[in-house]
Amino acid sequence: MKITVITGSPRRNGTSNYLADEFIRGAEENGHKIFRFDSAHSNVNNCIACNACTMGSKPCIHKDDFVELREHLLEADVIAFVTPIYYFEMTSTIKKVIDRFYSIDTILREKQNKAVLISVQHSSVSEVKDILNNNYNAILNWLNIENVGIVNAIGIESVEHLKQTDYPKQAYELGKGL
Ligand SMILES: Cc1cc2nc3c(=O)[nH]c(=O)nc-3n(C[C@H](O)[C@H](O)[C@H](O)COP(=O)(O)O)c2cc1C
Repeated sequence: MKITVITGSPRRNGTSNYLADEFIRGAEENGHKIFRFDSAHSNVNNCIACNACTMGSKPCIHKDDFVELREHLLEADVIAFVTPIYYFEMTSTIKKVIDRFYSIDTILREKQNKAVLISVQHSSVSEVKDILNNNYNAILNWLNIENVGIVNAIGIESVEHLKQTDYPKQAYELGKGL
């Protein structure tokens, strides 16, 4: 399978990228092909709602890093979203990428992809993740994408702390099990 991984953290060696690495390690061991897109280190413009794309039949007016990502989204069997929680939500850079899905909205809905979500939060309050998960499920529902797994890492202080938890194994097994 082809898996397109979209990460949301600006911290290359942070906690969510550690889980992204573990997810990818598992998926690659199972023979899957990965394309990774680090949204916080990419040049992706905001959707300006010009509607030139007509939600799929015409190209987006922006000529930026989404042009390459677009091809990997259209080829993907699974899209993996990996993000820290910022103010109860995914980071703005990953959301900006999802807003640009508007230009392939119709195509994605016909494709019937699968998706996974991996998140990290500092708070140990389990409910903090609920808005993110609800939003993820709503986006998937709209785009006719099936959720095939969620790992919410909760109460994470640092990468060293994360390594002492079960979450890296969960991310690895999520990738391996696809
Ligand atoms: C701008 C900002 C907003 C944050 N908001 C939340 C939050 O609402 N709830 C929470 O539990 N942690 C919050 N955090 C903490 C991060 O989710 C946490 O540190 C996470 O491990 C960072 O991921 P990273 O290591 O992949 O960058 C926030 C951190 C930042 C920088």
